[in-house]
Amino acid sequence: MEDLKEIFPESHQIPAEVQVPFTEQREYLIDGELREWTGNLAPVVSPVFTKQSDGTWTQQVIGKTPLMDSATALQALDAALRAYNLGQGYWPTRSVAERIAHVEKFLVRMRTVRSEVVNLLMWEIGKTRKDSEKEFDRTCDYIADTIKALKELDRNSAKFTEEQGFMAQIRRVPLGVALCMGPYNYPLNETFSTLIPALIMGNTVVFKPAKYGVLLIRPLLEAFRDSFPPGVINVIYGKGRETVGALMETGKVDVFAFIGTHKGANDLKRLHPKPNRLKAILGLDAKNPAIVLPDADLDNAISECLTGSLSFNGQRCTALKILFVHKKIVNEFLWKFTEAVKQLKPGMPWEPGVSLTPLPEPGKTDYLDALVKDAVQHGARIVNENGGKINRTFFYPAVLYPVNEKMRVYVEEQFGPVIPVVPFDHDEEPIQYVVNSNYGQQVSVFSSSGKTLARYIDAFTNQVGRINLNTQCQRGPDTFPFNGRKDSAEGTLSVADALRAFSIRTVVATKATDENKQIISSIIRNRESVFLSTDYLI
Ligand code: G3H
Repeated sequence: MEDLKEIFPESHQIPAEVQVPFTEQREYLIDGELREWTGNLAPVVSPVFTKQSDGTWTQQVIGKTPLMDSATALQALDAALRAYNLGQGYWPTRSVAERIAHVEKFLVRMRTVRSEVVNLLMWEIGKTRKDSEKEFDRTCDYIADTIKALKELDRNSAKFTEEQGFMAQIRRVPLGVALCMGPYNYPLNETFSTLIPALIMGNTVVFKPAKYGVLLIRPLLEAFRDSFPPGVINVIYGKGRETVGALMETGKVDVFAFIGTHKGANDLKRLHPKPNRLKAILGLDAKNPAIVLPDADLDNAISECLTGSLSFNGQRCTALKILFVHKKIVNEFLWKFTEAVKQLKPGMPWEPGVSLTPLPEPGKTDYLDALVKDAVQHGARIVNENGGKINRTFFYPAVLYPVNEKMRVYVEEQFGPVIPVVPFDHDEEPIQYVVNSNYGQQVSVFSSSGKTLARYIDAFTNQVGRINLNTQCQRGPDTFPFNGRKDSAEGTLSVADALRAFSIRTVVATKATDENKQIISSIIRNRESVFLSTDYLI
């Protein structure tokens, strides 16, 4: 606990290369121009406190961003609508090869701002340096893989199909104007996992950065401006309800890509007056359980449950948010698990070897504290040393045992370092938990018996999007389908699936008569159409 008291640094203890950034951002991107916002600004507050020379602790304000109004947000939508021009604009009518060239140009520019973005990730959301670097690199890889997958898709579409006397060419084309919004826990990666596929498929985009993790988009604004034609990508700032709400109310948004809570998604979707026009691609809440069976390799289960529940302090949609541990092994599990928690180093995001860091959401430590108190009131104990201790924005992980259905933490998605452990006797107990849950993202099952795992696999295949065997829940590899059932998601994202999600197939068909074949051959030979073409992308 002494360490926790000293967790926040004095100013002189912050290494030179991560000195507090301060950006008063007034720029925003609309119609290919970086415009200056002259209205109110919102402060960007870091989860990191520092000690001042007078001995007081101050939460670091690391910048300001435009608090845009609905009128300005609507200008962004107008720019995107003009660039799309009802499907006849420059961008949606480009060939795949041309659009890829723009995204490649952007990727080159993006790589040059790595250290700036990584520094802002640490300061804005408290992500460790290692994970911040991973997020940046993973995003670059995601873009490169998207280009590769689109080439593959385009190669497959380069051929003609002959069926029942018809010949046809089928290609994927854009949907229209996309509104992309990402979450604070992966403000770069998750946002770009919809933004880039939307752009590369020929949609035009209005992008609003996450609530926290917003300044880190600033270093990319020039790259967006210089890499894409005017209006193709527009970046807005401000309060969601005021800005994004106004865009949805126009009924002119065609695709709504949102990663956040199901409540937030529903509130915004409801504002759109033309539900049939709006396609939603949503990544939402989850309460992924781990189920640890008596014959599991306990050391492996503990190490996977540890990173599963506590990497980035449990602030991952895929985090393990409740652990069902069989009564036969629960004592040994708890002993070893709490020992493992003790080894995790608390500290500032830039400190070497650090795992536990301050939380960016205002009021989050109070919320977690209330969850813990509620569980204790209903019979749980905090079984790890210092569990639930708070120092300003820092919350030391609390392992709660035994957890039951009367407690809020049994159903609520804590999205933070609280680990509820439920003891069980029979397979049906965790199975029924998953079956009756409002969420359906993933599950992890730990056992060394093929027979046992097979039983759980078959119980869960119609419940969740991914069943992890002896492994924590996670999104990656990004080529795997990432989805969820019930309130956990709408649509599937993976490198290849995202390309499909942001496009629709259009067919050009004709009766396969000699005359029609000759016409088609001449169109192709003379390169008269962008769509009807057999060009092969290398
Ligand atoms: O927050 C949800 C992310 O998609 C999780 O991704 O499993 O790679 O951390 P991850």
